[in-house]
Amino acid sequence: MVVTGGRGFIGSHIAERFSAEGFQVMTLDIESGTEARLSPGRPAEDADRRVVADVTSAEAAREVVRFRPDLVVHAAAQTRTGGSITDPVGDARTNIVGTLRMLEAARSTGTRAFIFISSAAIYGEPSVLPLTEDAPHRPLSPYGVSKLAATDYVSYYRRAGLLPALSLVPANVYGPGQQAREDGAVVPGFMRQALRGEPMTIEGDGSQTRDFIYMEDVLEAVWLAWRWLSEGGGRAAGAPVAFNIGTGKETSISRLADLVEKTIGRQLGRVYRPARGGDISRSSLSPRLAARHLGWSPRVDLEEGLRRTYEWWAASIPGSAERA
Ligand SMILES: NC(=O)c1ccc[n+]([C@@H]2O[C@H](COP(=O)([O-])OP(=O)(O)OC[C@H]3O[C@@H](n4cnc5c(N)ncnc54)[C@H](O)[C@@H]3O)[C@@H](O)[C@H]2O)c1
Repeated sequence: MVVTGGRGFIGSHIAERFSAEGFQVMTLDIESGTEARLSPGRPAEDADRRVVADVTSAEAAREVVRFRPDLVVHAAAQTRTGGSITDPVGDARTNIVGTLRMLEAARSTGTRAFIFISSAAIYGEPSVLPLTEDAPHRPLSPYGVSKLAATDYVSYYRRAGLLPALSLVPANVYGPGQQAREDGAVVPGFMRQALRGEPMTIEGDGSQTRDFIYMEDVLEAVWLAWRWLSEGGGRAAGAPVAFNIGTGKETSISRLADLVEKTIGRQLGRVYRPARGGDISRSSLSPRLAARHLGWSPRVDLEEGLRRTYEWWAASIPGSAERA
């Protein structure tokens, strides 16, 4: 199999999972860094072959074709909402052209399954929650637009009979290995602040909601999607081309901060900043379609997922748990 974005948070876990299942794994990523991401002292990902290339390049496509994978999981992306606003052209190149490159490469080599990691950003501001797959698409950022265009291409490849392909549409994924960065995800940001004993930074008033889905639940969804596609699940007339991967539950950012404090057993306080551009106020994704067709449902609740994530952070930063 090939995992694009194999050095990233989600991609590295996918590589590890499929490697453990006995797959020959090739990762493809523009980054060549080898910092441990999954657990302290471990290589960045389990892979039999690591290719450093840009998914938009002909070289990347050639490498995929040469590897002749049964399965391509396309997780490489420009993932910053803010970055997509400042550089929409770069965002579109990576997220749209990169996806097309990988679809074409997979098609030309007769890949049995192509799984695209889309994003809940394709929906934009919801009118009804939890969101189902037939909800309107009104993305609020260039990132949402580019992920939507890529999702549409994936659907086209399936409907046109070019490739057994589908999109998984994850909500807010969190778990061990996710990096804290300035304009990044909220859970690792809170974790880092918790371990430093700093107050947690909340953008907006904290009443905005998200659907937090634990990494292992996403991995299980990828695994079940592979089995479904490879067993011909996508061939039936009217078979879905995209599946939400969420819990169906909304959690406010303030509640998340409370749960982080509960996890570490200490009050940290809050610092409030203006809300970011391109952010929605509420979100949750219905898992019902994935349950019906893939047999998937979320297993790890938020308290347990935060506990496991915190354990990873505490082990990653020696001495930090004592300081917290
Ligand atoms: N983390 C989440 O909450 C979340 C939620 C929904 C969807 N997603 C999607 O999941 C996928 C993985 O996200 P992540 O959270 O692991 O982010 P990440 O930033 O950790 O991983 C993305 C990886 O893609 C690589 N990449 C970027 N541009 C590339 C290019 N041009 N060529 C090759 N590699 C390139 C990066 O180097 C990085 O390793 C993305 O497609 C993202 O849109 C993530």
